[in-house]
Amino acid sequence: MELVMMMDLVNMLVICILVIICSGHCMYSNKELEGYPAGFMSDCPGLDKEAIITKRTLKNLSLTIVDTSNPMKEIRRKYNYYQMKELAKDPLFDFNKRTMLYIGGFLDSPNFPIPGRVAKVYNNIGYNVLLLDTGYFTTYEYPRASRLVRPVGVHGAKMLFELTKEGLDPKKLDVVGLSLGVHTASFIAKNFRLKTGMNISRITALDPSGPCFRNLGPEERIDKSDADFVELIATNIDGYGMAAPVGHVNYYVNGGEFQPGEIVWFLCMSLCSHVRSYMVWLSALQNPNSFIAMQCDSVQQARFKKCRDRKPMVTNLMGLKVDKKKEGIFYLATSAKYPYYLSERGLKQNSDFFKSLAASFNKEKLVKVR
Ligand SMILES: *[C@@H]1O[C@H](CO)[C@@H](O)[C@H](O)[C@H]1NC(C)=O
Ligand SMILES: *[C@@H]1O[C@H](CO)[C@@H](O)[C@H](O)[C@H]1NC(C)=O
Repeated sequence: MELVMMMDLVNMLVICILVIICSGHCMYSNKELEGYPAGFMSDCPGLDKEAIITKRTLKNLSLTIVDTSNPMKEIRRKYNYYQMKELAKDPLFDFNKRTMLYIGGFLDSPNFPIPGRVAKVYNNIGYNVLLLDTGYFTTYEYPRASRLVRPVGVHGAKMLFELTKEGLDPKKLDVVGLSLGVHTASFIAKNFRLKTGMNISRITALDPSGPCFRNLGPEERIDKSDADFVELIATNIDGYGMAAPVGHVNYYVNGGEFQPGEIVWFLCMSLCSHVRSYMVWLSALQNPNSFIAMQCDSVQQARFKKCRDRKPMVTNLMGLKVDKKKEGIFYLATSAKYPYYLSERGLKQNSDFFKSLAASFNKEKLVKVR
């Protein structure tokens, strides 16, 4: 009897010591133990070597002005690098309106579907729409295309400078970049400021590409110093996107790592999650009060979907109604299907798509496999 009690005491002592040594994280997932993602293709040696575009090839850098107001007959007129005076005189170009300049990513072209959709939405809300064609410079292998973003930025800035001489107000200019196009936008903005001392008013960074860029400093990638206002829409931060909060306001959509699939929920891996950034953004433009994001203390907190624990809750709207004074890191929950927004429901405990779906598969007290 006494021996049994002794053994119990010894057991308890051992357990106590273990508990003290482990202090709660023994055997549990732990970032100190596991590290964090290096990210897909994060470093590209040679990116900062010289790259120039010859005068002849500059003809392949162009701006297309688009009018989608008549769905039966879309109007598009293309002006190359040397034709900015003519573009400024295009009857579609109204300098009293705001202007949206869209810059696509790797392998993108104004003739592809994404720029067309972006154009339509911005036309509908009253913007002039310009599409920058960088296709000639982004159809190389990705690290080469990433190197060419710098000279394209230098010349893109010159094109904008020519347009400002003809009446374009940079305070009425929103640049929207997707993926690699965000860094192109960054280099255009940097060079535009070098040349004019003026900022572009707004850059919308749709999941800026992380491969080749995520480990670089603010002079070599998109940064909040690039424009009066920079917003980040992050949807695939360790894959094709980047995790750093490089904007004034930074939205980590569903934590920023992966998005739920629209057809099969678990089948939205890197590329699908990456391009979701523009779909969410276009929906936010059309549903200006519905994408309510909550502030976080860190990107880690957004990844863990723990920003709800932060008291008091501070919210901001994604889209043109954003409160620019509320800078920082925000978590935005969405649904799996277009139009994605959850309104106030997104602020509730069980709003996370993956967690609540996973829980729904295990909600019975007991499961019997027969
Ligand atoms: C590049 O520009 C030249 C001259 O304008 C044109 O003939 C050629 O088709 C362009 N190439 C591409 C791929 O855009
Ligand atoms: C340009 O924007 C940056 C970042 O928003 C800001 O710090 C800077 O003061 C602005 N410069 C001008 C000339 O407005």
